[in-house]
Amino acid sequence: PGGDGGSSSPATGRTVPSGATAPQPDGTGALPPGAGAPGIGDPDFPSDGNGGYDVARYRLVLGYDPATRHLSGTAGIRAKATQELTRFNLDLSGFTVGRVTVDGRAAAFERSGTELTVIPGRPLPEGADFTVEVAYAGEPKPVTGSSNLGTYGFIPTRDGAFVTCEPNGAKTWFPGNDHPADKALYEFEITVPEGITALANGELTGEPVTRGGKTTYSWREDHPMVTYLATMTLGKFTLREGRTASGIKNLAAVDPRFRGSLDKLYTLSGKITDYWATVFGPYPFSSTGGVVDDFSAGYALENQTKPMYGGFSPGEGIIAHELAHQWFGNSLSIKRWKDLWLNEGFATYAEWLWEEHQGDATAEQTFRLHYAAPAGDAIWKYAPGRARPDDLFNDSVYTRGGMTLHALRRKIGDRDFFELLKTWNREHRYGYVTTEEFTALAEKISGKDLDALFDAWLFQESKPAA
Ligand code: ARG
Ligand code: ZN
Repeated sequence: PGGDGGSSSPATGRTVPSGATAPQPDGTGALPPGAGAPGIGDPDFPSDGNGGYDVARYRLVLGYDPATRHLSGTAGIRAKATQELTRFNLDLSGFTVGRVTVDGRAAAFERSGTELTVIPGRPLPEGADFTVEVAYAGEPKPVTGSSNLGTYGFIPTRDGAFVTCEPNGAKTWFPGNDHPADKALYEFEITVPEGITALANGELTGEPVTRGGKTTYSWREDHPMVTYLATMTLGKFTLREGRTASGIKNLAAVDPRFRGSLDKLYTLSGKITDYWATVFGPYPFSSTGGVVDDFSAGYALENQTKPMYGGFSPGEGIIAHELAHQWFGNSLSIKRWKDLWLNEGFATYAEWLWEEHQGDATAEQTFRLHYAAPAGDAIWKYAPGRARPDDLFNDSVYTRGGMTLHALRRKIGDRDFFELLKTWNREHRYGYVTTEEFTALAEKISGKDLDALFDAWLFQESKPAA
């Protein structure tokens, strides 16, 4: 739809003037010719991410001052046009946008809600590699009060910021394609007042440089990463660095208030990362570790290479969970939020596997404990294979998701089950996954018809027989 004289929308009969973007439930609407869609196409989150291009790399050159809460800088985004583009969108929440360029030439832009529409001087042909640069500044504001997600995004703290963005809070600190279906590489150049540490993903590319009372930290993440796993957590931190027993770089950082947790965090993170590599396959990234900040958002987040624990000293269970996400969620990422159990069910099952490995409760015992939840329990009413946008992190996605894996393990046996976990990782390393791909691989490896099992555990709003 969307011809020159305007078109009539069959659903509403309204006339959509040409050049206008009629908001549609799927986030696309009637777009002017050659416009990239304002959503990537996730029906549960229609305006998240964008269409028409694929990001290859972000280069974020940012300065932040905790005293004034002012952030300013430039985001350089290298991308490939997947269609002809007369205009395209980035996601950005708040800030004043200064200059926008495309391939070095000034571009026009428009803003509406959290959509930043960039209009290059001349259309980008399909297949073109292009660079867009956005200069912006302002006070970052986290996302708050959105259904049951709590506070997330760039969260200012007393001495810096706690930056945890799942599901769609990256837009609170940089413009981009804010949906897990577009992974990219990242470079960060972060300037903060001297004495503050800036922790981003991947590795420091050199020693921090201090000049005129300010320190610049350069980090880079050389493995594909989704936007919600990017971080620039800032503050006073005590660090411990080294390598795990198997040789993986390990960095633990804690707010001074959690000084007493540093060695435990460092040691457990190393030990658990090494163990997961024997169960799930080689560690996908360049380093492991964890960060404890003096701020509670009420959760932890598996930020790539640097899981973040908000205001508490993490125990083995949650460290096992966040590190399992480095495989499930970070290396293998979901294309649509409805498949979230592929992250959370697996990370929860990993907690049970870690306990089993420690000689504590077996996964079978843990499964039985949860299975005993009465018929009226929320986990039986919520089908975990279809995570809901208004209740994304429901307990069912975690617990019943984990139970689904145990029911599968019972059905196909340990040998096929653990081969499945490794093959799943090997086949989709650094890529995207769907529930259908997982159930198909489980059937292939086991040679069993598993439709009934997956249907009962993932898709029925009732307690499965066990
Ligand atoms: N993925 C995180 C975990 O289970 C949970 C993140 C919750 N995010 C939120 N905005 N509430 O480890
Ligand atoms: Zn999790």
